[in-house]
Amino acid sequence: MRRVLAVPFRLWPLPKPSLLPVLCLLLSGIRPQGNPGPMQCYRIGLSGNLNCSWRALGDSEAPSTLHFQSQKYHLSGPQVMAVPTRQSWVTIPREKFTEFDTLLIWGAKSDEPLWPPISVDLETRVKLDAPWLCPDIHFSEDEPMETTVQWTPPTWLPNQEDMVCQFYYRRCQVEAWTLLEPELKSIPLAPVEIQGLEPATGYEMSGRCRMQTEEDLWGEWSPILSFQTPPSAPKEVWVSGSLCETPTEQETLLLWKAPGSCVQIRYRVHFQVRGQEQLHEDIPCCSFSIPTLAEWAGVSAINATNQEIFTNLSLTCSGSAPHNVVVNSTSDRKVLLVTWWQGAGEPREHVVDWARDGDPPENLSWIWLPPGNLSVLLPGNFQKGVPYQITVTTVFPWGLAPAPSVWGFTEELVPLMGPELWRLQDAPSGSPTIAWGEVPRHQLRGHLTHYTLCSTSKTESPVCRNVSASTRNITLMNLQWGPCKLWMTASTVAGEGPPGPSIQLYLPDNTVKWKVLPSVLLLWLMLMIGLVLAHSRRCVHLWHKVLPHWVWEKVPDPANSHSGQPHIEEGFQVQPLVDMPILEVQEMEPLPSMVYPQPLAVLDSGYEKHFLPTPEELGILGSSSPQALA
Ligand SMILES: *[C@@H]1O[C@H](CO)[C@@H](O)[C@H](O)[C@H]1NC(C)=O
Ligand SMILES: *[C@@H]1O[C@H](CO)[C@@H](O)[C@H](O)[C@H]1NC(C)=O
Ligand SMILES: *[C@@H]1O[C@H](CO)[C@@H](O)[C@H](O)[C@H]1NC(C)=O
Ligand SMILES: *[C@@H]1O[C@H](CO)[C@@H](O)[C@H](O)[C@H]1NC(C)=O
Ligand SMILES: *[C@@H]1O[C@H](CO)[C@@H](O)[C@H](O)[C@H]1NC(C)=O
Ligand SMILES: *[C@@H]1O[C@H](CO)[C@@H](O)[C@H](O)[C@H]1NC(C)=O
Ligand SMILES: *[C@@H]1O[C@H](CO)[C@@H](O)[C@H](O)[C@H]1NC(C)=O
Ligand SMILES: *[C@@H]1O[C@H](CO)[C@@H](O)[C@H](O)[C@H]1NC(C)=O
Repeated sequence: MRRVLAVPFRLWPLPKPSLLPVLCLLLSGIRPQGNPGPMQCYRIGLSGNLNCSWRALGDSEAPSTLHFQSQKYHLSGPQVMAVPTRQSWVTIPREKFTEFDTLLIWGAKSDEPLWPPISVDLETRVKLDAPWLCPDIHFSEDEPMETTVQWTPPTWLPNQEDMVCQFYYRRCQVEAWTLLEPELKSIPLAPVEIQGLEPATGYEMSGRCRMQTEEDLWGEWSPILSFQTPPSAPKEVWVSGSLCETPTEQETLLLWKAPGSCVQIRYRVHFQVRGQEQLHEDIPCCSFSIPTLAEWAGVSAINATNQEIFTNLSLTCSGSAPHNVVVNSTSDRKVLLVTWWQGAGEPREHVVDWARDGDPPENLSWIWLPPGNLSVLLPGNFQKGVPYQITVTTVFPWGLAPAPSVWGFTEELVPLMGPELWRLQDAPSGSPTIAWGEVPRHQLRGHLTHYTLCSTSKTESPVCRNVSASTRNITLMNLQWGPCKLWMTASTVAGEGPPGPSIQLYLPDNTVKWKVLPSVLLLWLMLMIGLVLAHSRRCVHLWHKVLPHWVWEKVPDPANSHSGQPHIEEGFQVQPLVDMPILEVQEMEPLPSMVYPQPLAVLDSGYEKHFLPTPEELGILGSSSPQALA
């Protein structure tokens, strides 16, 4: 067994246990009304003087003299000590009494005893000095660690009676002291044993002694002895980052948990890369970048009791991953419950790791679980509405098999924002196509259930439809022509979030154009016929018979019409519209009051009125009734 020297690092005095409450309790119990009550006398450690004290009293009741008489040697009568005014104690110097004697002591005022005399055994009635603790501390190598602390009892009379000593210890950061059982005797003298120590942890200890017969009179506390246990290899080594995803863009980190507390440890990190061992010395706590193609990693602590021990983890990705990973929150919505199904093969362990969305890779938390456990309540302080990325990995002796990560929430909340919309190229039919961006996960605050797309045109109330969460674009059929405002919300199980930024579209009346086109063609055809007729009046009779009356009516020269020409072009521009949208996309602006170019306006000339079907005939008016998007 190798022994390691601990370094004491801090010393400060311990608060002395107060006897006062006990004394007061005692006094109030025994003392008759108006009586100053019993006093208590004990000798003080090394000096050997006897100190008698009582509860502070008013001048009228306080003793003015203290009387004491030897019980073993009746050589003289009672001796007297004057009590200084307003002092509730008196010291009887060592010279005034004989060692090993027993004294009768009482207080008096004007020679009148104030309370019954008390008997004091000068050999045992002593408040002992503090024991001495040896700072040269040794630790066992195995875990949990143990130590034995050598100590020396306080000095008292040469052929002293047995003393009883008690020792307390506490871990750093812990307020309460733990009593070490059993209490130790000065004869035979045995070292203090402390078991169950954590490695690399600071501890403090202190002790005090009393004479065996004087159960209520403990001696002084020893000064606090501080020591720290030697470090050991970290128990838990894990990987942060997608080690088993190729290619890994993200840096993968080897993480470990520092054993113990209050002690800075440096580490040695080993990797095996393509059969070659790499060693990195003097690494601080608790992460290190994993070299690419590393096959395994190990971490050990510098200055550990056993330098040979290091924690080993295979970094090879192989084996059957767990599946059906489900994250639920407990009914109090404070803790995440993760359950999964085991893949094929005999796992050595499972590891569940989790990180808050957006946390740096070194802030990963993880828990190792025995192979039988297929569910775990994650120990952590989870916040509602915050996404936690959870990965379950099966650890085989030869490698790791992680399941795809899932996002878990202790409690889902309403999204904080809606998706942003933008316009894609129109569908071949001319209907506008809208796409949208995903709401960032930490703004979504839950699992997306669906989107809701709303539109409103002019002064009409908005019309909404639900869109599946998996959809990222949509072609809007049956939109009413004219200006139109669109926006979208995202929903979680907690409810619907606020609308995202809206976009403004101006939709030309494609339907009308497409309906007008045949009429225009027909018109053109008839014009041609008209021309032909004008040139060959010979067939007039025939035409009169074949064609309807309105065709052979006198036709005005189309060349005289200023509106017919652009209109024909307009009609033929319907197709290129796809490439050259006159549609306007504007964000969040109030509907501009400017007048949009109205293709239908050309229909107002007398010529078109005469020859083209009216909007009513084309059913435009019918189509301008409000329509649901759906
Ligand atoms: C004697 O005891 C009293 C009460 O405990 C204390 O206040 C006082 O200081 C002691 N005197 C000496 C000399 O130790
Ligand atoms: C390891 O122990 C040596 C000797 O006790 C000491 O000098 C050194 O500082 C220690 N190193 C660490 C990292 O604790
Ligand atoms: C660590 O594990 C690897 C793979 O299982 C093994 O080859 C290597 O010898 C182990 N190293 C130690 C020190 O146990
Ligand atoms: C966990 O959640 C799933 C769906 O998310 C549900 O079917 C299952 O009943 C839940 N289990 C518990 C224990 O709440
Ligand atoms: C990462 O963890 C450390 C220690 O727990 C903490 O102090 C720090 O704030 C965390 N970082 C982030 C970004 O949460
Ligand atoms: C593992 O399972 C056992 C038995 O079901 C249970 O007692 C133990 O608490 C589980 N361990 C963890 C870390 O959940
Ligand atoms: C959208 O779906 C939610 C939840 O299923 C439902 O409450 C809501 O009425 C739906 N809205 C529309 C416009 O269909
Ligand atoms: C629209 O979404 C579908 C899948 O929903 C996708 O295949 C298609 O590429 C998207 N179109 C555009 C232009 O992004």
